[in-house]
Amino acid sequence: MQEIQAIVLAAGKASRFKTGTSKLLEPICGQAMIVHVTQLLQQLQIPTIVIVGYQKEQLIQTIMDSNPAHIAFVEQREQKGTGHAVLCSQPTWTAENLLIINGDMPLISSALIAQLFERHQTTNATISFVVAHLQDPTGTAYGRVIQGKQVEIVEDRDFSGDKSAPCFINAGIYLVKRSFLEHAITTLHASSVTAELYVTDLVKKASHQGLHVELVATPFDTIRGVNTLEELWTAQQIIQQQIIYHWMSNGVRFDNPAITSIDAQVTIGAGTHLGAGVHISGNSSIGKQCVIAPYSIINNSILDDQSVVLSHCVLDKAHLKSHANVGPFAHIQNSTIDDKTVIGNFVEIKRSHIGSDARIKHLSYLGDAQIAEEVNIGAGTITCNYDGYQKHKTIIERGAHIGSLNALIAPLTIGEHSITAAGSAITDDVPADSLAIARTRQTIKDGYALKYRSRKSNQSSTTESV
Ligand code: UD1
Ligand code: MG
Repeated sequence: MQEIQAIVLAAGKASRFKTGTSKLLEPICGQAMIVHVTQLLQQLQIPTIVIVGYQKEQLIQTIMDSNPAHIAFVEQREQKGTGHAVLCSQPTWTAENLLIINGDMPLISSALIAQLFERHQTTNATISFVVAHLQDPTGTAYGRVIQGKQVEIVEDRDFSGDKSAPCFINAGIYLVKRSFLEHAITTLHASSVTAELYVTDLVKKASHQGLHVELVATPFDTIRGVNTLEELWTAQQIIQQQIIYHWMSNGVRFDNPAITSIDAQVTIGAGTHLGAGVHISGNSSIGKQCVIAPYSIINNSILDDQSVVLSHCVLDKAHLKSHANVGPFAHIQNSTIDDKTVIGNFVEIKRSHIGSDARIKHLSYLGDAQIAEEVNIGAGTITCNYDGYQKHKTIIERGAHIGSLNALIAPLTIGEHSITAAGSAITDDVPADSLAIARTRQTIKDGYALKYRSRKSNQSSTTESV
């Protein structure tokens, strides 16, 4: 689509959002609202100019983080309306047609843009724009398309007719010939109600000049605008449903899709089964035949085929290799768990690598640890990896057996097939095949319990009699 250049309007204050931040930064299924639009234009290889103003630094950063190929930014210093935003970009126009598009429409598809372009070309229109039919537009704030001898768009606040009458509403996507736009954009008049310049007035201008204006109708759900948090939630539900239907049609089973959330970038293999309340976000990639039990949260993580995450786990930048089994209630960050390893309940693993066939089944913390294959870590064992200034490594070599309730004081290496006794505080390296015991010896005082009890009961009867 070399003949097109896109202008994305993204400078507005989002005052109806009332959150204090630009609505365009708000994530929808893991992607900022503005990126839903800019990424689509990049996929279509349309060079894009984004008009920024309110919170421009954050917007530019967010868009650049999505690695766009052909994008430039123009600042609209004062937000004087959508027409004024387009006017600000005039010096950058080079293409034959300009695709003007609101930044707050995350539901649009490339098929719709392609359809608009095709109709614009075949009808040789001066302006083609997208509309949707609403049976009852009461309570919505869209511009109404009025079609008499001429076509015009009347904003809801300026419309004095029957507000409930069925009509076409303006979607906010316009394809305009540059030969018309160059002059027309300089002749917009400010609204007497809002003092803003409306891009929508271009339609009336073209129509009044007898130029062809083409309407391209599409279902409302493909162009909903997002001006309020309520509209954000509606758009998010639609996108979430599309994502879940996509994975269902590719063989992923969802127990309760209504309370499951999957980000746009996530991939899931066939035969995987997701329990109720599972959240998978960021760039996570889930393999085939995996099980993720209810209420587990997985962010930016990789699960290889046939790995299992039991309920209520939190995984962040984790990599579970095939047949790894984690949870319930495990917390794994920046770590790799090799194949066939079992991580049990109330285990936290951070910045660590756990080899294959290892067992860490109950109530442990492993930080900055390199655990080799076939290691068994007893219940309640922790790595003491932080001395208040620096983090230190714990290395446990193949087949070592760490007793329950060990404090492994790093830096530390525990050799192959060695054993540490339960309740040990291990401070020194343990050679291979040896036993380390690091706890005080138990002493027995014969009969002492009887003496102790009689002393205590004498004390309490004296106190009572006082
Ligand atoms: C706009 C249209 C309306 C249409 C609706 C579709 C106008 C005047 N009205 O209304 O006909 O039915 O979209 O959703 O265009 N922006 C700027 N600079 C500004 C003002 C806004 O860049 O000075 C940007 C906003 O950030 C937003 C886009 O333009 O991304 C649209 O602005 P918004 O305030 O949402 O317009 P609507 O009231 O929704
Ligand atoms: Mg809007």
